[in-house]
Amino acid sequence: MKLTVVGGGSTYTPELVDGIGAGIDEIVLVDPDEQRLAVVGDFCRRLLEHRGSGTRLTTTADLEEGAEGAAAVLLQLRVGGQAARYRDETFPLEHGCVGQETTGAGGLAKALRTVPVVLDIADRVRAVAPDAWLVNFTNPVGIVTRALQLEGHRAVGLCNVAITVQRWIAGLLGWDWRSVELEHVGLNHLTWVRGVRIDGHEVLPDLLAERGPELAEHVGLPLALMRRLGVIPSYYLKYFYTHDEVVARERSQPPRASVVSDVERDLLKRYSDPSVNTKPDELMLRGGAHYSEAAVRLVRALTSDGPPETHVVNVRNGGTLDFLPDDAVIETNARVSSEGARPLPVRPLEPALSGLIAHVTAYEHLALDAAVRGGRDRVANALLAHPLIGRHHLAEELAEELVQLNAAFLPWA
Ligand code: G6P
Ligand code: MN
Ligand code: MN
Repeated sequence: MKLTVVGGGSTYTPELVDGIGAGIDEIVLVDPDEQRLAVVGDFCRRLLEHRGSGTRLTTTADLEEGAEGAAAVLLQLRVGGQAARYRDETFPLEHGCVGQETTGAGGLAKALRTVPVVLDIADRVRAVAPDAWLVNFTNPVGIVTRALQLEGHRAVGLCNVAITVQRWIAGLLGWDWRSVELEHVGLNHLTWVRGVRIDGHEVLPDLLAERGPELAEHVGLPLALMRRLGVIPSYYLKYFYTHDEVVARERSQPPRASVVSDVERDLLKRYSDPSVNTKPDELMLRGGAHYSEAAVRLVRALTSDGPPETHVVNVRNGGTLDFLPDDAVIETNARVSSEGARPLPVRPLEPALSGLIAHVTAYEHLALDAAVRGGRDRVANALLAHPLIGRHHLAEELAEELVQLNAAFLPWA
């Protein structure tokens, strides 16, 4: 089985390669940055060799060559790199809005830069690997995955938030993660855990009652809020529930893009050292914990003939949340096999959850419209529909600035 990684020069790639086990004979890293690709590729080969893995790893800057005949193609790219991310994380702050690469105005900027590039890549992949599954880790995952699905691509979106919470709770309670099952629902980076079952027994109410302070610290939200809602919100919900506190904090700290740039410099130095053949600890400083496990398990489920397995993925709604359009992309537990991913039924949602999900879905659909068709007014429409922006003057000001800052990446600007 051949797996192609687009954006293979990412400093995250060794995390993925380290998780690769039996069943993947060949992995191809594709990246336009040939220098970085060489460093990351050589290091990944040392990782595989050190583990005695039989997986063959090659690199190429040519997408068609890299994707030809692949069974699965992992998309993990960042258009504009950390420099563009820095802008996403800073320009909204001057307007009192959260600066984040996947939420609010920064997330919209990222979507506008990314969707056209990913759609072009997907078309070119389809020409050389028509049956390949596209596993999309490219943010904003919900919007990008929907863009792919609307163009008829076999795409499943992936995020590591769910697996990270699952492993963290298992560790907290001293259980093997295999016996911990989460009931996870929402949109990418807008999810809640509504149930935690251990060997079939619901333990979430006890968890909130007995381990509340640790849970609240883990997700960075007030415990009182979590107890009242009776759920564990993902840590991305802090941008909504504690927006103004986050803005105040962000104004006094270096943006995440700066931190990550430093980590990446150190990582690339480690990867370049021919004596290093295991994953450096610095990789833990990135946000992608357990990404490799989630991705490898998902790719295996999509490409093998085994029975369906349950994974938390970004998948076509198809009536699962009855208040959303069928073609919305939701993030929830799904049954995954070589037939694809089908969401499991979701218990009726409390209005506190469904209201925010519906609101952000409307924003996401307008964001995709702006990304595909372009135009400053479509950008302003998306911002006006975002629950964290939603005011005319803000939407107009942010739209102006966003388009100006990203003009080099927007074919229509
Ligand atoms: C988590 C999110 C990803 C995001 C990453 C950022 O893993 O699920 O979607 O890309 O954090 O991590 P970073 O180290 O780049 O801040
Ligand atoms: Mn080519
Ligand atoms: Mn994510």
